[in-house]
Amino acid sequence: MFDSGVGGLSVLRDFQRLAPHERVIYFADTAFFPYGPRPAAEVRKRSFAIAHRLAGAGCKMIVVACNTASAAAIADLRDAFPVPFVGMVPGLKPATQKSRSGRVAILATPGTLDGELYARVVDEFGRGVTIENVPGHGLAELVERGESGTDAARETIGRILGPAIAAGADTVVLGCTHYHFLAEDVVARFPGVTTVETSEAVARRAVAVLHENDLAAPDSQAGALDLIVTGDREAFRAVMARLGFASHPAEAIS
Ligand code: DGL
Repeated sequence: MFDSGVGGLSVLRDFQRLAPHERVIYFADTAFFPYGPRPAAEVRKRSFAIAHRLAGAGCKMIVVACNTASAAAIADLRDAFPVPFVGMVPGLKPATQKSRSGRVAILATPGTLDGELYARVVDEFGRGVTIENVPGHGLAELVERGESGTDAARETIGRILGPAIAAGADTVVLGCTHYHFLAEDVVARFPGVTTVETSEAVARRAVAVLHENDLAAPDSQAGALDLIVTGDREAFRAVMARLGFASHPAEAIS
């Protein structure tokens, strides 16, 4: 499972709950964080390097726990590697079902909003609603610094989402895995707004893919978690702890 940093931990948490016997490598590419503002070609290159490392380590499935990397690379990764991939797209479909005002805000990185994958989701599910694309400039950076739940986070959210909410959006799609950790801040800043995210749906899809491919771990296997962090390991560990991941067993950083 990989992401540019802590964002994908939202998927990891659900996946471990649903599939406690699986052994997971979580790869946090913090040396190249953030992915969001980078050109798609650069994110694709990082995604390939990471997939090589994970496939080389014997991974039987790779979850791209990052909307931006999914937008940049998921189709090419599927063509290039013999293991199944599970990726992410902003949850527009559930948002259209939840919205009462018929106006939804899609909060995501520029890389995700500009990608073909998202354009296809809009084509497929965007009819009948008004969509406000909102680039979350600076939000993933806040989360990566462990600043969810702070005044700074709420102030930034207010500034970024304010215009879309003022225009009548009542549903906010958290289209970047980092934003999962800001869900409470969005609701605190804009009471009455509904947030939508896909972490759990993606974790469920990953479990289904394992079963479909006859790859699921037996119940006799003990689950495990290994971390690979390309940037500052101690900083990553500290933010992980702040997000509630302190006590996970079998933690090793390489
Ligand atoms: N977590 C990533 C995503 O889901 C993006 C964060 C970043 O900009 O690196 O899009």
